[in-house]
Amino acid sequence: MSEKLEKKWEQLPESDKQLINTLNKIQEELGYIPHYRLTELAEQSEVPESQLHGLVSFFNCFRSRPPGRHKLLVCYGTACYAKGAPLINDRLADELKLEDNADTSTDGFATVDHVYCVGACSQAPLVVVDGQINGKLKSYEVPILLNKLRKKG
Ligand code: FES
Repeated sequence: MSEKLEKKWEQLPESDKQLINTLNKIQEELGYIPHYRLTELAEQSEVPESQLHGLVSFFNCFRSRPPGRHKLLVCYGTACYAKGAPLINDRLADELKLEDNADTSTDGFATVDHVYCVGACSQAPLVVVDGQINGKLKSYEVPILLNKLRKKG
């Protein structure tokens, strides 16, 4: 948890912390927080659904849509950032046609997210694809990477 987020967390009322823990459990179970589960939680907790939506959208670790079949983590740590992570991220967004800050392609093929240093800085810039580090990646290699991934399904 980032320092900013940790501070915000400490300021939250205990009831919100409990709700966030429940939201976390739902996401762990389903991979995302479907709308119907928010409705159920609102009924059970007697907390307005709008407040729950607010919590979900404030904490960007929560996703309201199912994750893609493949998970790509672009490292935005200092070394990777300096060596071109934003270019790789932009190329991924273009190739996957991610719209309006969406992190998952509309065909459900992949979800793109960020990490902040995975301890392999000598391989910067890198993308972790389904748990495998792809280091020293160039933005022009992104389509090749995605094609290989598409062959896997
Ligand atoms: S900054 Fe990317 S692995 Fe360290």
